[in-house]
Amino acid sequence: MTQDELKAAVADAAIKEIEPHLEKNTVLGIGTGSTANLFIDRLAPLSERFKGAVASSEASAKRLQALGIEVFELNSVGDVPFYIDGADEVNANLQMIKGGGAALTREKIVAACAKRFICIADGSKYVAQLGNFPLPVEVIPMARSYVARELVKLGADPVYRQGVVTDNGNQIIDCFDFMIDDPASMEARINAIVGVVTNGLFAQRGADVLLLSTENGVERTA
Ligand code: 5RP
Repeated sequence: MTQDELKAAVADAAIKEIEPHLEKNTVLGIGTGSTANLFIDRLAPLSERFKGAVASSEASAKRLQALGIEVFELNSVGDVPFYIDGADEVNANLQMIKGGGAALTREKIVAACAKRFICIADGSKYVAQLGNFPLPVEVIPMARSYVARELVKLGADPVYRQGVVTDNGNQIIDCFDFMIDDPASMEARINAIVGVVTNGLFAQRGADVLLLSTENGVERTA
């Protein structure tokens, strides 16, 4: 199977996971990226069965709206029963690196509000140790050089993601050569640097369910 076929299979599995729980007042949290896009496409035919969605990026909001799914501001929504999103890396503890698409801050906010975070990924994303994928850090623009120097002190090789402005008007630094021994502790240490908005480690609030698509089918871990 190609990676796209694996992503499609896991998007199908995510629909099966949430479909029995959809109610007229349900507002779903929806992530960002190619796997999340495939999930959005499969969600559209069910749009009459739930109220709408909150999106973790402008791109996902546009896709949802184009397919007839109403998008709500998070501040106007109470309960978010499920947040469905992809990952750049995920480990056996369902901790992740996210933010390859620069949407990490809104992803983290929606995930924080959600009762259950369902991570949907193809098998290439599953790793023994997080860090091979460069860890994204969203920074306030004027703090970029300072934050980069602090990241060097933590052992990273920080690279400014040129030409990218996040949906929040900020910039991204990617941390290369940065294998992470203790994801929850590193998440907190990076977030404590002044000027950091957030970082792409989803360890303190990891996923509740991992749907992982492999040649043998979709494996579910919870
Ligand atoms: C975007 C993300 C995505 O979830 C992550 O990059 C995975 O993307 P894809 O499904 O395209 O592989 O964190 O900020």
